[in-house]
Order: sequence, then structure tokens, then C-alpha cells
Amino acid sequence: MSLGQKDFLSIPQHTPADLRRILDLAKQQKPLARRHELPHSHPNRTLACVFAKPSLRTRVSFETAMMQLGGNSLFITDKEIGMGVRESVHDVAKVMSRFVDAIMIRWFDHGEVVELARHADVPVINGLTDLLHPCQVMGDILTVEEHLGTIENKTVVMVGDGNNLANSWINAARRFPFNFVLACPPGYEPDQGIMDAAEQDGASFCITHDPQEAVEGAHVIYSDAFYSMGQEAEAVKRRADFAPYQITAGLLAAADPKHIVMHCLPAHRGEEITDEVMDGPHSVVFDEAENRQHAQRAIIALLMA
Ligand code: CP
Ligand code: NVA
Repeated sequence: MSLGQKDFLSIPQHTPADLRRILDLAKQQKPLARRHELPHSHPNRTLACVFAKPSLRTRVSFETAMMQLGGNSLFITDKEIGMGVRESVHDVAKVMSRFVDAIMIRWFDHGEVVELARHADVPVINGLTDLLHPCQVMGDILTVEEHLGTIENKTVVMVGDGNNLANSWINAARRFPFNFVLACPPGYEPDQGIMDAAEQDGASFCITHDPQEAVEGAHVIYSDAFYSMGQEAEAVKRRADFAPYQITAGLLAAADPKHIVMHCLPAHRGEEITDEVMDGPHSVVFDEAENRQHAQRAIIALLMA
């Protein structure tokens, strides 16, 4: 069993059937992995994990997932390989393909990751770019389905920045039948190209500037930092612009009574989300973090099949 595409760079690159295959495998393997009973289906395989930005969840979940499958992983930073600086993206792709069985990469420029995948002879997995964070949203959909049964007909409301996570949720709405709403300050809307493609595909999504109106009846309330990795210099301005977009218990009063609260993490407690909500009865943020490993193990296993 494998996927129809060599790489995992974005959600809409894959068919709904392939995306469902990833979620099914993740659900099937999760209890086995938790009991340390997962068969070593990928012995002697190596996953290279390349990072140009910091990480806790992505690094640890990918590395442990590869080990659980019986393989190995390598941690490499942009400083070592100097992709596009010390050596061309093309040459890095060709050389890496001779050494490893797949490449997971966290990078700034999405275009360079696409280029790496084009030249690589092994699968390339997007571990976050400035544009997208597709593995996060696959783990998130797994989490929604665990807690709410199915993502079908659910309303996912993100309150915050039109960033790589918002873009990935809009992409997900092209392949899964749910509604996505982003409540963001004016000027912080998602990528126009991503929205145009989603509109053409008939995806159900909308952008609003009113968080209170957005969360009414919502099944999932989703949060992310007000400023992403690489935007630290904008922190002061963004904190001011996003102040009305904090997720508080008061804001959530209008959500569906069985709503869940998600955050991709790392959270800036007291900034985009209060402690009360993060640690409250509706929060599933640590299930969500764990599910990164289960979703990504399924992606690795299927791409390396
Ligand atoms: N959510 C997420 O990707 O976390 P890290 O930045 O720690 O990998
Ligand atoms: N939008 C955030 C996500 C972190 C997991 C960032 O890119 O920094």
C-alpha cells in the first residue's frame, strides 16, 4: 500500500482517498505504538530531518516515528548543508537521495522545498514552510476525529493569523468535507493563491474579522502564535494588532457546547490563549501534539512503502 504521489508537500497534492488512507493507518497503528508493539516494517531505512527553524514536536515526532518503524533518522541543520548557499538545491537533492530513503524538511521558502522535491529521487515531506504546515493539519484532523467522531460537517474556527496553519486548513477544506473559518485582523489574511485555488475547488471556507461572530456554534476552536518563526521583529506590532483575537473562556461561551480547543503549539500562554482555556476541560492540545507522531508515522510508512 502506498500513496499516489512521491512527496508530502501539501494536503491537496493528495487525493481524498490517499489522505483517508493516512488517517486510517494512523488510527490503526496508534494503540500498537503506544504499547510498543508496532512491527518494524521499515528496517534499515533512514529519514533525514533537515531544519532551518527550531522545533520540538516536529523533530521529536518524526525521529521517534522512524525509530518505531524500525529505521533511523538523522538531524541536519541548514548551517551544515547550506542548501542554496554552499551547494545548489539540485545537488543537495541528488546527493541526499544517494544516502537516505526520505527527507523531512522545515524551511523558510516553500518554493525551495518544492524544488528539492522535484530533484530528489526519494520522498520529501514538508515539516513546515512559511506557506504551509501540512503534517500539523493531518495530525489535527486525526485529533478532531478522535474527539468528535468525524471531521465531516464540522466547523473549524481559527482565531488569529492568516499564516501557514490557516493556509493548510484552507487546503484541507479542498479535500475533506468540513467548514473552515478564520477570524483575523484586517491585513493578516491567508495567502491569496491558496484562497483562489480553494474557491475554484468549491472548498467551504470564509474569512472574517469578528472573532465573536466566528466562534458561534463552532465545533473546533484553533489557535496559533500571533507571530511565526522568522517574524520575531514584528512581535510588538502584532501583539497590539492581535489583542482582540485572544482565545478566552468568554469568547468560547458561544461555541458548540461540545467544542474542542486546539493549538499547534508552542503556545505563548497569556498572549493568543489564556491558561484557563489551555488547561480547561475543552482543551485537547496534548492529544494533538501526540497525534503528530501517529499521523506522520503513517505518512512515512506509506511514502516509503
Ligand atoms: N507544532 C509544531 O510544529 O511544533 P514545533 O515547532 O515544536 O515542531
Ligand atoms: N505558525 C507557526 C507554527 C509553529 C508550529 C510558525 O510558523 O512559527
